[in-house]
Amino acid sequence: MTRNKRDAMTVDLFDSIGEAEPAPQTLCPGAVILPAYAGQDDRLLAALQDVIAAAPFRRMVTPGGFSMSVAMSNCGSFGWVTDSTGYRYDSIDPMTGRVWPRMPDCFSSFARDAAAEAGFDGYTPDACLINRYEPGARLSLHQDKDERDFSWPIVSVSFGIPAVFLFGGLSRADKPMRVPLLHGDVVVWGGAARLRYHGVMPVREAYHERLGRCRINLTFRKVT
Ligand code: SIN
Ligand code: FE2
Repeated sequence: MTRNKRDAMTVDLFDSIGEAEPAPQTLCPGAVILPAYAGQDDRLLAALQDVIAAAPFRRMVTPGGFSMSVAMSNCGSFGWVTDSTGYRYDSIDPMTGRVWPRMPDCFSSFARDAAAEAGFDGYTPDACLINRYEPGARLSLHQDKDERDFSWPIVSVSFGIPAVFLFGGLSRADKPMRVPLLHGDVVVWGGAARLRYHGVMPVREAYHERLGRCRINLTFRKVT
């Protein structure tokens, strides 16, 4: 079976090993997977180190008072934050009191190219949420809906150990597809898919030669 035969409910995690960057796969109208699209691009991970040195990963607290299992940081003009008062985009990192690190040029050009590949031309993200999952970490189903203009897509880039991305419908109750994401995989969702619920299953114990026991996900957004 090749990655091209991706049946969203039953995809084999290992079916793409050894293949060159396969063709984009449509998950549903408006949502595309670009398999291994970032796999060869070491500039993103190199630039990420500088971002994290300036704005370290931290486990934020939900409005309900729980510490998230995913550790987060941001770069760009805005960062997504949560605390006991709610969720918001903020130009200041509440942990350092400084503006978020600027978005590296290689991040913005990568996101622009990936969005264009998925059919969204002219994408200029102003925020990038950086998520770090250690084994056991998960992200519950949610919509990305704190941005001003939903005509711009979300561009998500995965690195490190595998995860199962849950991609649901426009209602929380819709049964989500289970989409394995490997190092370098990119998902773009916009248009009719922009407000679909999504999340990440608890990440399983694994080791990645570059990132160790860790999955890193970048999600690019256009907030303003
Ligand atoms: C997110 O929804 O912010 C992250 C999704 C992911 O980690 O794949
Ligand atoms: Fe999200």
